[in-house]
Amino acid sequence: MKNVLCYLLFVMLIVSMHTGGAFAAEKPSLEKGRLLFNSQLLAGANSGKSCAGCHPAGAGLENAWKNQNLAGQVNTCIAGPLKGLKLNENSIEMQSLIMYIRSLKQQH
Ligand code: HEC
Repeated sequence: MKNVLCYLLFVMLIVSMHTGGAFAAEKPSLEKGRLLFNSQLLAGANSGKSCAGCHPAGAGLENAWKNQNLAGQVNTCIAGPLKGLKLNENSIEMQSLIMYIRSLKQQH
């Protein structure tokens, strides 16, 4: 009986490791970027502000795609007004935010 229990725990461990793995293998996406941009909890922020609070629906960021250091600028806004922790430039969160910001480029 004890062995069965151990086996079950083992299986549960493996399953949870796998779902964790699937999560880590997640890809950046425009949709994720949009959600993060509107989230007050981005990067552990505790200011009650979101990116959208100052840049509603991305207003004012239409030319940001030209920025040579977009990730750095995003981190400046995260560490500054949002009072969050800077994101790793290669993280899914940062890459998704950049995708969203690039999508604001005006279509003409
Ligand atoms: C308290 C207000 C405030 C918040 C919150 C804020 N920003 Fe900003 N942001 C600014 C200001 C002010 C500037 C500099 C002036 C400008 O370019 O509009 C700026 C500039 C930027 C730029 C550079 C624009 C360009 O043309 O190069 C980007 C990109 C940007 N913010 C992204 C973000 C993101 C992403 C977030 C959320 C993590 C965010 N901002 C949160 C106020 C804010």
